[in-house]
Amino acid sequence: MEKRFAGKVAIVTGGSRGIGEAIVRRLASEGARVYATFNSNEEKAKAIQDELTNDGFSVRFLRVEITSEQSVKELVDEVIKEVGRVDVLVNNAGITRDTLLMRMSEKDWDDVLDTNLKGAFLCCKAVCRTMMSQRKGKIINIGSIVGINGNPGQVNYCSSKAGIIGLTKSLAKELASRNILVNCIAPGYVETDMTEKLTEEQRNAFATMIPLKRAAQAEEIASVVAFFMSDDANYVTGQVLSVDGGLAM
Ligand SMILES: NC(=O)c1ccc[n+]([C@@H]2O[C@H](COP(=O)([O-])OP(=O)(O)OC[C@H]3O[C@@H](n4cnc5c(N)ncnc54)[C@H](O)[C@@H]3O)[C@@H](O)[C@H]2O)c1
Repeated sequence: MEKRFAGKVAIVTGGSRGIGEAIVRRLASEGARVYATFNSNEEKAKAIQDELTNDGFSVRFLRVEITSEQSVKELVDEVIKEVGRVDVLVNNAGITRDTLLMRMSEKDWDDVLDTNLKGAFLCCKAVCRTMMSQRKGKIINIGSIVGINGNPGQVNYCSSKAGIIGLTKSLAKELASRNILVNCIAPGYVETDMTEKLTEEQRNAFATMIPLKRAAQAEEIASVVAFFMSDDANYVTGQVLSVDGGLAM
């Protein structure tokens, strides 16, 4: 694959599986130096790191708890110590704790908002100073179409993803004068461990609603991340791009 991202440094949160893993593989294969985070399943993270390193790519996994300001700061400090810059941050890590509002506990709410929204906020804040002094940078947030459309049984998750859109647009306005571009990708239904939890019935119902009549593969989200990271998207900021097979039209 063409090495469009040679010399670029990218941080990808939640890179050890699903969409995050596909993003790590895609950016590394295009020559980026990738720092990916995991918070569980160390063996899987190490296996991906070893495989990609053996293939000649630059990937390092670090254990990070993205709900902790200290842990996120240590990640960014480590990247700066090693390579002195951050070109791209991909806020991908996210969780679900689905249930109807009447049954949703305060903890279900807090866990999802803390990981999906506060985690992204902390990561943006941690890379911001470096990107501002570089007068260049890109932040790519992984939202969801349910942050636009809503979804029953997911008031916590949808609120967090709607929040990601607000974060994206506000930060895009705050940082545009420093040439830092902030965009959001809103995937529809993607086949990953996260959607494995859905029942067969729920999955079929989703598939029939999607104009393209199929779920996305994680690689189809990663390719849009690569677009935002590329110079082809240097005049795009504050945007939310649905990558959903037409679901949210
Ligand atoms: N799968 C889908 O259909 C779908 C659709 C729309 C949006 N998304 C979004 O895409 C992103 C990735 O989803 P996925 O399906 O690959 O999920 P996944 O569950 O397969 O992976 C999530 C990743 O986030 C990491 N993570 C979770 N909590 C963390 C924490 N506190 N600290 C650090 N890392 C943490 C996990 O370790 C894991 O690597 C999420 O933001 C999700 O909301 C997914």
